[in-house]
Amino acid sequence: MTKLHSVITGVGGYLPKYILNNHELSKMVDTSDEWIMTRIGISERHLLKPDEGKGSSYLGAKAVGQLLEKTNTKPEDVDLLICATVTPDHVFPATANIICDLLGIKNAFSFDVNAGCSGFLYAIATGDKYVRSGLYKKVVVVGAEVMSSIVDYTDRSVSPIFGDGSGAVMLEPTTDEIGIMDEILLSDGVGRHHLHQKAGGSVLPASHETIDSRLHYIYQEGQPVFKWAVSKMADVSVEMMKRHNLSHDDIAYLVPHQANMRIIEATAHRMGLVKEKVMINIQRYGNTTAATLPLCLWDYENQLKYGDNLILSTFGAGFTWGTIYLKWGYNPK
Ligand code: UT7
Repeated sequence: MTKLHSVITGVGGYLPKYILNNHELSKMVDTSDEWIMTRIGISERHLLKPDEGKGSSYLGAKAVGQLLEKTNTKPEDVDLLICATVTPDHVFPATANIICDLLGIKNAFSFDVNAGCSGFLYAIATGDKYVRSGLYKKVVVVGAEVMSSIVDYTDRSVSPIFGDGSGAVMLEPTTDEIGIMDEILLSDGVGRHHLHQKAGGSVLPASHETIDSRLHYIYQEGQPVFKWAVSKMADVSVEMMKRHNLSHDDIAYLVPHQANMRIIEATAHRMGLVKEKVMINIQRYGNTTAATLPLCLWDYENQLKYGDNLILSTFGAGFTWGTIYLKWGYNPK
């Protein structure tokens, strides 16, 4: 039997127009451009304004719409759409279902994946299995987030970090030795205490009290999350290099989750990679949670060549973390 791989055949992305820069943010909370640049490395982030009345499905549909156009795919030819998000339009139905409806994707099944900032990694690993089964030919994986809907803009420890945006890839089968080669995916629920949204779920449904106590916003203890992220993201990335006998020369790019420039640099350092081999756009977009990886691929698409070795690595709420080793599937178009 011929061995199938799934390969990325196109990328789409979208960022809402409004930009909140550090200067503007420092008028809202007690912070400064210098503090944010030194500790996090973010200069500005795109936000979907709440008065637009739109959610993650709107951003996701923009990225997927562009993806379908770039890959010449008719909506009716999509077999499966997986949406990674922690900011779904609603608790139910899935944002993936809504994206399909917005785009006329009628012959597919669709569902959401919630794995914090590792959502996109988990989602392409899932899409990969459907493609490799031989039963699904066109699988769309999209990360879409309106993080601004759960950020407390009176909290200076969280508000500089997050941004809104979306990115999507198409996965298709190939018998060539390219595409997704291997994965390491892990989680440890003990980390939930350090990063979560306290209210709005079944443990603490929304009430006047939860709203008055500001419990519907992101709760994060920065330092423990930072420590776990620095070690776990680097551990899995280095393990993947060892598994496949990859030296730093063999790797075209590390595609890291964009949470903090210091975490990105520490991971690259452990892998022995120079900065030029690391995809970085955190300065302009901030942490868009499940959208960071596809937005990196979207930004760097024209610099990627057929066969390039990429290591995708993430860490996020859960805790969840992991890495995927893939060989890029096409030259700049
Ligand atoms: O993607 C999901 C995963 N999330 C992450 O990976 C986030 C990981 N954590 C981090 O990136 C960092 O821990 C933060 C960026 C959240 C915070 O940076 P830090 O270097 O760990 O700062 P800290 O929390 O230790 O705070 C240091 C000081 C404190 O003041 P004192 O107590 O030393 O006087 C904070 O109150 O910085 C203060 N501070 C700020 N000052 C100016 C906290 N936030 C700000 C701010 N502006 N925005």
